[in-house]
Amino acid sequence: MTNPDRVAWFAEARFGLFIHWGPYAAMGRGEQVLMREHLDPRGYAAAACRWNPSRCDPRDWARVARLAGCRYVVLTARHHDGYCLWDSRLTNYTSAAQAPRRDFVAEYVKALRDEGLRVGLYYSLGDWRIPALFAGPQRDPLGWEAFRDYCHGQVEELLSSYGPIDVFWFDGAWPRTAAEWGAERLVARMRALQPNILINNRLGASAGGCQSADGGEGAGGAADLGDFGTPEHAIVPENRPWESCQVSTWRLWGWAPHERFRPADVLLDMLCQCASRGGNLLLNLAPDADGRVPESFALRAAEIGRWLGVHGEAVYGTHDSETFIESVTFGHVTRKNNTVYLIVRFYPPDGMLRVPGLATEVRTATLLTTGQSLRADRYGGGWVLSGLPERPPTHLFPVIRLELAGPPARLEWFEPGQWTGDPLRYLSWAMARGPGFDA
Ligand code: GLC
Repeated sequence: MTNPDRVAWFAEARFGLFIHWGPYAAMGRGEQVLMREHLDPRGYAAAACRWNPSRCDPRDWARVARLAGCRYVVLTARHHDGYCLWDSRLTNYTSAAQAPRRDFVAEYVKALRDEGLRVGLYYSLGDWRIPALFAGPQRDPLGWEAFRDYCHGQVEELLSSYGPIDVFWFDGAWPRTAAEWGAERLVARMRALQPNILINNRLGASAGGCQSADGGEGAGGAADLGDFGTPEHAIVPENRPWESCQVSTWRLWGWAPHERFRPADVLLDMLCQCASRGGNLLLNLAPDADGRVPESFALRAAEIGRWLGVHGEAVYGTHDSETFIESVTFGHVTRKNNTVYLIVRFYPPDGMLRVPGLATEVRTATLLTTGQSLRADRYGGGWVLSGLPERPPTHLFPVIRLELAGPPARLEWFEPGQWTGDPLRYLSWAMARGPGFDA
């Protein structure tokens, strides 16, 4: 069960950085080549052991996260290939025992704390090297038990060696169920070690073996054990805290030199959309084989960070607000108590912005981007703001802050979702023109 005090910082944060990095970065075809390309697992392991990202400095990751305006970061301590980025005592398939001779998790945790960021660790339960993962406890009871104990032991290690960990992000539970993973026992142990930790929902499919509804590959249910939901490549509100994880490129999470990056406004739009629906964005960064931040990512991150520097109050600590303003024709809406933020994706051509559906009185309207006041008047459909500069004051999204006289309420005609609800609410509006077919 989600404890509201424990998750308060998470909802306030709204924006996190995901980092997918491991020996697969050297292959440059994403994080899943081992299985998707059916590579020889011995060859893969040998290459992984030789991988030596000597120029990697996790302080670069922490800096780019802070400059982007992220409040937390989640690093793949172990991905599906099983390679560990920390000094695990339970295996030598680690960056500490192999070529790098470094504990990247330790360096990362320190770098994040130095930048004032919260610390998250991603851990794939599935380790594609291990036959028992596929054979399962029925066919291979001893193998499965040994592997499960190994995973529990590693999680315990991660939660005992690096001080407070804020987020633990499971993944890759497929094809085993939460019960097979001993997920309940594992979570109890985790909470004993780190009472404030937030745990995601991917702890293995619930009995019946269904995949999670979020489309996450290798994800899986066990929803009741986690603190927050993790819709993947999608922004889908849940009735508990949630975080949409998204690539900043087109498809892959791990480094691929010729992957295409999405433009900054598309990334920012995802962040604003998450906030307007009451959730977080966990935006992915794939450092290159040497652990360096690709310039295309750094530029976009800095652009978003600069925007947040001016407009951050419209994102951090806001709550969902799609219920009292129709925003499709201009952008997104967020809210903090009686303050409402209009995030303008489509700048109006006539200096006037309509705020349809809003019934509550607007006391003041301010264009946050420039600090100037706007005029607010009622019209039949809601409110209309005037006095906007002729040209958009930023190439990203201008934001208007409305101070309302009370909690926002909506006019009768407006219901979230234009094609749902009672059509009679549009009747008197249509009747004003009359029933004829002519102009
Ligand atoms: C999927 C993928 C994995 C990625 C994750 C991020 O589950 O299997 O490669 O790390 O999504 O959400």
